[in-house]
Amino acid sequence: MRAATGKKGRIIVGLDIGTTKICCIVSALTEEGAIDVIGLGVSPSRGLRKGVVVNIESTVESIKKAVEEAELMSGVQVNSVYVGIAGSHITGFNSRGYITIQNEDDGVTQADKTRAHEKAKPSRETFPKDREEIHTLPQSYTVDDQDGIKDPLGICGGRLEVDVYVITGAKMAVQNVRRSVERAGLDVAGIILQPLASSKAVLSDEETELGVAMVDLGGGTTDLAIYSQGSLVHTAVLPIGGNHLTQDVAVGFRISQAEAEKVKISHGSVLSEGITEEELFEAQGIGGRPPQSGSRKALSEILEPRAEEIFELVEREIKQAGHEATVVAGLVLSGGTALLHGIDVVAERVLGLPVRVGSPSEVGSMRGLIGSPVYATAVGLILEAWRPSEGERSEFHAKWQEPRNVMHRIKEWFF
Ligand SMILES: Nc1ncnc2c1ncn2[C@@H]1O[C@H](COP(=O)(O)OP(=O)(O)OP(=O)(O)O)[C@@H](O)[C@H]1O
Ligand SMILES: [Mg+2]
Repeated sequence: MRAATGKKGRIIVGLDIGTTKICCIVSALTEEGAIDVIGLGVSPSRGLRKGVVVNIESTVESIKKAVEEAELMSGVQVNSVYVGIAGSHITGFNSRGYITIQNEDDGVTQADKTRAHEKAKPSRETFPKDREEIHTLPQSYTVDDQDGIKDPLGICGGRLEVDVYVITGAKMAVQNVRRSVERAGLDVAGIILQPLASSKAVLSDEETELGVAMVDLGGGTTDLAIYSQGSLVHTAVLPIGGNHLTQDVAVGFRISQAEAEKVKISHGSVLSEGITEEELFEAQGIGGRPPQSGSRKALSEILEPRAEEIFELVEREIKQAGHEATVVAGLVLSGGTALLHGIDVVAERVLGLPVRVGSPSEVGSMRGLIGSPVYATAVGLILEAWRPSEGERSEFHAKWQEPRNVMHRIKEWFF
């Protein structure tokens, strides 16, 4: 068995700790330098509520199961993982920092950029004690009077300014994720915001440039990420998801949660219009009672208002963040609840924007197995983890300047 040792070891593992499932994906690079998924493990999740770990023991057990399955499929021993984080404790805010460029004639260096980023972050003194920084994402740079610069490397000037979006989480919630992973015997290679990961898997560059909202409809949460001009400008995690729909079905038909889940997936639709009264389904009665029949029309009349409510909350969040006019390309849906029949139609109706359901695309040879919206976050974790960091990007930039052996260089840089 080979060890999962990060980029240099040519293996990267993503661990999506969701409210309903825990998913482990093992990825490697092909000879051509493309990302290839070589292992998948999924286990039911029992230790979370609304995207937050509330029971470490149960979470550890689920993590172990998912990881073991992925190890068996890939033949790789997993040592360290990039893990996702979500929950309504996640918040983001804009910040700005500036520095004097070290050498005016040489232009902006990586060191200048790093210093500007550090300046843009809230200082240790002002940073709340109960919060932890998860990401600081540069949005755009200004060199002297020239603003809107995507990458200022090499640009000459006296003053470098950077606008960043700082994402933080409640310290306890982040610690509980870390602790669960570590108690499962794994190292945390990195913590990545789940909406960021899902976006990476399902959004196109054209959409993020134009302005788009990614909405990951999970079991316990609905994650939102808004992009404009290629950068993340707002993120939020709403504490509502597919579990609420299941719960409504269980109450409405007086059936168990497990049966309601089956009924929702097999017969559910959020479009009551067009379903006739004659369309029936059969469900197991509760506590040994005989099976009962239900109408699909009644089922959709339970699901439709709840789906509308979720999108009303999404719309409110977009408006409150002041990004109503930003999302020109509309909404892209992912997560398990994006598979619910008619969900895109309801989203379009509520928000009055174009909507599509997004599936992870860049997944190599296992596309058939994991090319579903359910795996958007897990796939996004590995895509985000393989992405070069700021430092590596500048190294890459320098190597890219050499015209010879470019492909060879790219591979060398990855391995
Ligand atoms: N085919 C389907 N049709 C309708 N709903 C589905 C389907 N498949 C899965 N779901 C629903 O999707 C939800 C799970 O989605 P997902 O796997 O994205 O959530 P999660 O990552 O475990 O949770 P979260 O991201 O909220 O922490 C469940 O509520 C499940 O009922
Ligand atoms: Mg999820």
